[in-house]
Amino acid sequence: MHYGGDYNPEQWNESVWQEDVRLMREAGVTMVRVGVFAWARIQPEEGVFDWDWLDRVIDLLHENGIQVSLATATATPPPWATTAYPEMLPQDENGSTLWHGSRQAYAPSSPVYRRLARDLVTALVERYAHHPAVGMWVANNEYGCHLNYDYSDNAAVAFRAWLKKKYGSLDALNEAWGTMFWSQRYTSFDEIVPMRLAPYSLNPGGLLDFKRFTSDTLLELFVMERDIIRASGATQPVTTNFMGFFPPADYWKWAPELDVICDDNYADPNDPVSFRGAAFTRDLMRSLKKDVPWVLLEQASNDVNWRPTNAPKAPGQMQALSMQAVARGAGSINFFQWRQSRRGSERFHSGMVPHAGTGTRTWREVTDLGETLKNLPDLGGTASGAKIAIAFDWEARWALDAPDHPGEIDYGALIPRWHAALHRQQLLVDFVHPAGDLSGYDLVIAPHLYLVSDESAANLTGFVREGGDLLVAAFSDVVDDADAFREGGFQVALRDVLGVAVEEFGALVPPVAAAGGTSAGDTGGTVSAVRGPGEDHADVDGPFAAVRGEFFAEQLQVLDPSVEVLARFSSGRLTGEPALTAKRTGAGRAWYLATIPDDDGMRRITQWAAAESGVSPVLDVPNEMVEVSRRGDVVTIINYGAESARLAVSGTDVATGAAVSSVDLDPYGWIMLRDAR
Ligand code: GAL
Repeated sequence: MHYGGDYNPEQWNESVWQEDVRLMREAGVTMVRVGVFAWARIQPEEGVFDWDWLDRVIDLLHENGIQVSLATATATPPPWATTAYPEMLPQDENGSTLWHGSRQAYAPSSPVYRRLARDLVTALVERYAHHPAVGMWVANNEYGCHLNYDYSDNAAVAFRAWLKKKYGSLDALNEAWGTMFWSQRYTSFDEIVPMRLAPYSLNPGGLLDFKRFTSDTLLELFVMERDIIRASGATQPVTTNFMGFFPPADYWKWAPELDVICDDNYADPNDPVSFRGAAFTRDLMRSLKKDVPWVLLEQASNDVNWRPTNAPKAPGQMQALSMQAVARGAGSINFFQWRQSRRGSERFHSGMVPHAGTGTRTWREVTDLGETLKNLPDLGGTASGAKIAIAFDWEARWALDAPDHPGEIDYGALIPRWHAALHRQQLLVDFVHPAGDLSGYDLVIAPHLYLVSDESAANLTGFVREGGDLLVAAFSDVVDDADAFREGGFQVALRDVLGVAVEEFGALVPPVAAAGGTSAGDTGGTVSAVRGPGEDHADVDGPFAAVRGEFFAEQLQVLDPSVEVLARFSSGRLTGEPALTAKRTGAGRAWYLATIPDDDGMRRITQWAAAESGVSPVLDVPNEMVEVSRRGDVVTIINYGAESARLAVSGTDVATGAAVSSVDLDPYGWIMLRDAR
């Protein structure tokens, strides 16, 4: 269990370094990430490297028993680079250049940027690949974080090459994108631009490919650095830091390329249920690479600087969220950053060592956490034993995020809401790609899987045949992987198992986002509500009592005589029409839900489906501000509520070895138990 943070010694006079390592030892720090934004310090000009200071820092850390996760420093080219090679600067969709003076000012597909980054990483690994202090390599930083999409000429050249490789011929591209529509037909790859601002809606197939291209391009940068590190003979794990349910990067595709998954998470202290969004991303990180404990690479010790209001964390909240990460599979807990910066944009962002020094609550909590983590027993692997999985796909998200649908829904907010519905009930859940390994799950929930590839459909179908229960919810299986309709209407790919098809989507006036809803950090969102004369919801009566459906009330055609109608709409235009259907195929069942339930409805429906599938909560703890999770044979219970919680739970306290017959938890209190009952 490593403990530490981002260490940026280049911002400090060397005399501070001595105090840094002394305090690191006091805090129980075992590993720090060094050099993440140090390109300008390491390479003051092209061809010139200054290693002395970095040698001294790394040696100093090593002498003090602190390992280094060495950043490759490629996240921000210095001004000398972008001044000498302005063509490496990125552009927005209007063609405006994004200049240096902040960070991340480079076009990911720029050959010059890539050459400079290669030179830097090559020089770094030549020097430190075999340094005994180096325990991990972290390439770049949060790929795509600020620059989600680049529309520069570099991007145009690379996008065309990517498309040529994907389609082979222009005819195939024109066919896939349907360019006969609106006279969009291309006669040369050189006519294609990276989806820059246009007078009106861009081609959906083109937009989807541009998002695929962007994710692939960023991944290419990671792979380029990783391969340089590997080629040097370095044997440490190589990784980069993810950002939860980050829209532009398909982490399903990225994960196999990383040795270990790292995540950055900044739960908002102003949101009383931000622990749910945090649980969502932690479950996602665990699911991206099962069996390898993931690294919480960044979190804040206290407040951040980039929200409109940056509330401090409540006493104990930082430790509770750290233990949540451990309980959900993390093997290392770290912060941005070690010492608060005196200058620069992040001077108000908390650090492990605050401006106000060590006589502070932050420092006490930082040292307490170090002590706690040091005393944790070996928790072994990461397996939660979840029997429920949520199947989601970045490609479905990208296609849904494009304009021109019967109604706007926000997949990036809905997937966390389905997770929250299960989380509120202490039902454990993993995430899976719809074409991924579903064996081991009793229930797979595929919410709003708008785009389904043939491969995903075959996989989900196979899961049902072999005895799994599949719950598919509204606006699923609408298009193929070119964002085009299949022959035969909607729900064609999953028709064998669903036995129903949507005739009309029945868009409803969207709900006004509920206050205090679920939050997935920065990725959660709300759908803007345009009120109108139409219906804004449709009630559903079924085996889970009445549920309120929103966004869509789909009119279903029942196509297979074996389909059973389990619930019907009980209000509005579709009163009496099927709202939830069931069909058996092989040894399993598939349910289709023709609407999107509100939060309470999601809770009821998932409760019903879990019970049908024989899945029970980890423990019977009916307090929604208390979270119960499992890692191997250890159950962790955390109270995020403002009130103390007394729970009728028994077990053996992992910390003390004592038998407990009930559990009392103060706000942000937590306990780890074996044999929990
Ligand atoms: C992250 C970034 C860090 C730091 C942090 C502040 O996105 O990787 O360098 O800026 O945010 O919260």
